[in-house]
Amino acid sequence: MNVYQKVLALVAVVATSSLLFSVAVYGDDKREWALGWFKQSKLDVAPVSSPAYRQECGSCHFAYQPGLLPETSWRKMMSGLDDHFGDNAELDAETQKNILNYLVANSADKSDYKRSAGIAGSLKSTEAPLRISDTVYFRRKHDEIPARYVADNKAVGSYSNCAACHTRAETGSYNEHEVEIPGAGRWED
Ligand code: HEC
Ligand code: HEC
Repeated sequence: MNVYQKVLALVAVVATSSLLFSVAVYGDDKREWALGWFKQSKLDVAPVSSPAYRQECGSCHFAYQPGLLPETSWRKMMSGLDDHFGDNAELDAETQKNILNYLVANSADKSDYKRSAGIAGSLKSTEAPLRISDTVYFRRKHDEIPARYVADNKAVGSYSNCAACHTRAETGSYNEHEVEIPGAGRWED
């Protein structure tokens, strides 16, 4: 075979096997699963799905996805809302319980989205950091960014302001290629 024939043969093999694979997946009723996996593999954490959480915990700042902290952290935070980083964020008992349940069920240690698994895996089971920005995993991902872009940048202020730099944070996507730091432009490393 010359090179041209070899390429043709390769294309034929790849095309046939992908066709067979899709038929197998489709026929096996696993299509939903395959699509779900594809969608999930593109997101870093599961997007917020509770309107109550978004309303109560997204009024002062970005509504952090539950998969950014482990269960221990959410339990600790939700039991001290009267002094929440110096603010009073108390809720009525019913709402408090519902939001806690939502956070726990979707916490980093119960989610298999890639950043959730990374965050949970970087912590000891006894650790309960109250800030995402205090986790080892977060620090490792942000250690190359100069302070003039963060604390000394009026449009950002602190690392708590995820959505100031991550243009698609709201959707659960923190991809480094979607970062635009105000005043610094698109991030290239
Ligand atoms: C009254 C305003 C207010 C409300 C309501 C509020 N927060 Fe906060 N939250 C704050 C402040 C202030 C900070 C500290 C921000 C900073 O340091 O820049 C903070 C920080 C946080 C952080 C740490 C972010 C980081 O740096 O990693 C988390 C997580 C958080 N809040 C979760 C919640 C949850 C969950 C709720 C709902 C139960 C909630 N917040 C409701 C004011 C509020
Ligand atoms: C000052 C801007 C800024 C803020 C604020 C910020 N980030 Fe980032 N983040 C970045 C940059 C820049 C990168 C890419 C770093 C690199 O690749 O060296 C990044 C990377 C990440 C990554 C890894 C993405 C990848 O593709 O590897 C995650 C996850 C992430 N950030 C989550 C968060 C969360 C959650 C918050 C809020 C609690 C946050 N970030 C706040 C700038 C920021």
